[in-house]
Amino acid sequence: MRLLVTGGCGFIGANFLYAMRQRHPDWQLVNLDKLTYAGNLGSLRALEAEAGSAYVFIHGDICDRDLVSALLAEHAVDAVVNFAAESHVDRSIDDPAPFVVTNVLGAQNVLDCARRAGIKRVVHVSTDEVYGSLGETGQFHENTPLAPNSPYSASKAGADLLARAYHETYGQDVVVTRCSNNYGPYQFPEKLIPLMYTKAIKGEPLPVYGDGQNVRDWIFVDDHCRGVELALLKGRPGAVYNFGGAAEMPNIEVVRTILRLTGQNDSLIRFVTDRPGHDRRYAMNFDLAERELGFAPSVTFAEGMSRTIAWYQANSVWLDEVQSGAYLKFMDRWYKERS
Ligand code: NAD
Ligand code: TYD
Repeated sequence: MRLLVTGGCGFIGANFLYAMRQRHPDWQLVNLDKLTYAGNLGSLRALEAEAGSAYVFIHGDICDRDLVSALLAEHAVDAVVNFAAESHVDRSIDDPAPFVVTNVLGAQNVLDCARRAGIKRVVHVSTDEVYGSLGETGQFHENTPLAPNSPYSASKAGADLLARAYHETYGQDVVVTRCSNNYGPYQFPEKLIPLMYTKAIKGEPLPVYGDGQNVRDWIFVDDHCRGVELALLKGRPGAVYNFGGAAEMPNIEVVRTILRLTGQNDSLIRFVTDRPGHDRRYAMNFDLAERELGFAPSVTFAEGMSRTIAWYQANSVWLDEVQSGAYLKFMDRWYKERS
């Protein structure tokens, strides 16, 4: 397998590359990443050192038609997994435009270049947020109507519909995956769990939006990566698969877990102004992925959280480099070493 992974310097992409390298050492892995603020070459240092020529990094934009077409041909790519995206809801509220550019136009460009190059399969990585918000009961199924509420989720829904259209119109082999909230190593500390961890260890206040009762389903990142791998290897062309962690929880409970694991107490919690359009509850039904792919989450929330906190504790240098902005310099170093 010669696999193009886009957005491999981000949180899930990096975990996916490590997992694929471990489980499929014979695969050729090509990582295309624009290195936005969320892309961190430092996250892949160990992979680069270990994999040698079985791993290639290309600095570039999924919106760049010439680049994407050229690298598909040059690396004789068999399949593409598209993780590249602007991924943070709060940033999408402040400035939606880059979300539409990367998440809609970029995804369309990946589909189009892959189609023209005759790539065997594209896995498009999407999110439960495209379904909108649930009340107290019920779950999202793959046929739940899309009803996104943030510019982020609207842009992801746009790409999901383009993936569907490319399958229906051109018969392209595209599989869409929709997963719930991920957590684990290498997550940028703007997302709930690493943000609260970084604040808790400094004894700073923890900002909880609204009443803290918004519910998310949490999945350990390795389980999501396994789901994407299964979709790549066993997915039905044109199918959409939900993945979840079977760990629904109000945000306040997640925050309390972090405080407990870092030896802090609840006095650090601050309820702050709610996020506009804040989805109340997500819950995933992933029976289809269980049935067709053999997917099941294997890491409980308790185990995943202690592994995650232990990882951040053991990798304080990674976190310091992100927080100081030093990680942005890895790109200069990368170019220097290769010029
Ligand atoms: P992330 O923000 O950590 O990483 C995104 C990566 O994409 C970064 O390395 C960034 O540099 C790169 N990128 C951004 N724009 C690009 C462009 N135009 N061209 C090339 N590369 C570009 O995101 P993540 O949390 O790892 O999420 C990865 C994917 O999974 C996204 O598509 C996201 O919508 C989806 N997803 C995330 C979650 C979650 O909980 N984080 C849940 C479900 C689905
Ligand atoms: P986040 O990690 O941004 O993921 P998403 O919005 O994609 O689900 O947020 C997870 C939940 O945590 C969401 O309900 C918003 C809430 N949240 C806070 O309460 N405080 C914060 O500072 C952040 C970043 C998120």
